Amino acid sequence: MNPVALITGASRGIGRGIALELAELGYDLMLNFVRDARAAQAASRAALAIARQFGPPIRVVTCRADLSLATDRQSLIESTRATFGRLDLLVNNAGVAPSVRADILDATEESFDRLMAVNLKGPYFLTQLAAKWMIDQVRGHPGAAKAAAAHRAGGRARPVRPKIINIASISAYALSVNRGDYCIAKAGLSMVTALFAARLAAYGIHVYEIRPGVIATDMTRPVKAKYDRLIAGGLTPIARWGTPRDVGKAVAAIAQDLLPFSTGEVLNVDGGFHLRRL
Ligand code: NAI
Repeated sequence: MNPVALITGASRGIGRGIALELAELGYDLMLNFVRDARAAQAASRAALAIARQFGPPIRVVTCRADLSLATDRQSLIESTRATFGRLDLLVNNAGVAPSVRADILDATEESFDRLMAVNLKGPYFLTQLAAKWMIDQVRGHPGAAKAAAAHRAGGRARPVRPKIINIASISAYALSVNRGDYCIAKAGLSMVTALFAARLAAYGIHVYEIRPGVIATDMTRPVKAKYDRLIAGGLTPIARWGTPRDVGKAVAAIAQDLLPFSTGEVLNVDGGFHLRRL
């Protein structure tokens, strides 16, 4: 039986890149989208094609859900349960940028509420739902302890150790005074990672945060010229744009259980942006 990953906002950009990397690893995928069903279907076909190249077949299903809504979060989890019956990995990727980049002296409550609902409340409460299911899964799986022991001993058995990954941002600590709402939501998401990491460790459920830097997606297209200039001027030690697959590979490392003694850990996927230099 393949492990199962639920990826939010997976129809395009970083979420799609994550889906393709997990398809390569042989994960069955629940791809959440909110608007563009055709793009979600295209992502699904691309994931299936990659899986065919690399090994046994996988299943990929798409599910529309607006993560800012409690009813949609609930139905996304229920659909995943009805379709696959298990959940090994939740990737909280969906997110929005402010519609207008406005100075914090002028920014609106409307933008603040939207950013908090999608980028912070959504992943917080989706994680709550997924975590309860994962706890039941770990408790109820008779082979869990044996499989984990075999894995520790270098065996090939796959441990039943579910994981959660939050896609935060360098904006969790780097300030943009023209999109304070985005920064606050991402800083909050870092705390979500830490809180659930502490709460879930006793169940063997580890929680990680990935902080992408400047990644080429639809989200950053409107500010492409600005970042082209900054990267050329030395913004990042690795002088290029990141790609969705760069982020996907960090997810893949976690999904393969390559960080077994880490939880609450932050992986910077940012070309070295976070390094302080003189
Ligand atoms: P994107 O705009 O290309 O994709 C975001 C996805 O989230 C879209 O598929 C969108 O439909 C979905 N989404 C938006 N609101 C939703 C909702 N209410 N319910 C369900 N899905 C929803 O953006 P990108 O660049 O792929 O971003 C993915 C994540 O990575 C976001 O959380 C973003 O904040 C974060 N990030 C992106 C960076 C970049 O440079 N592109 C840098 C750092 C973090």
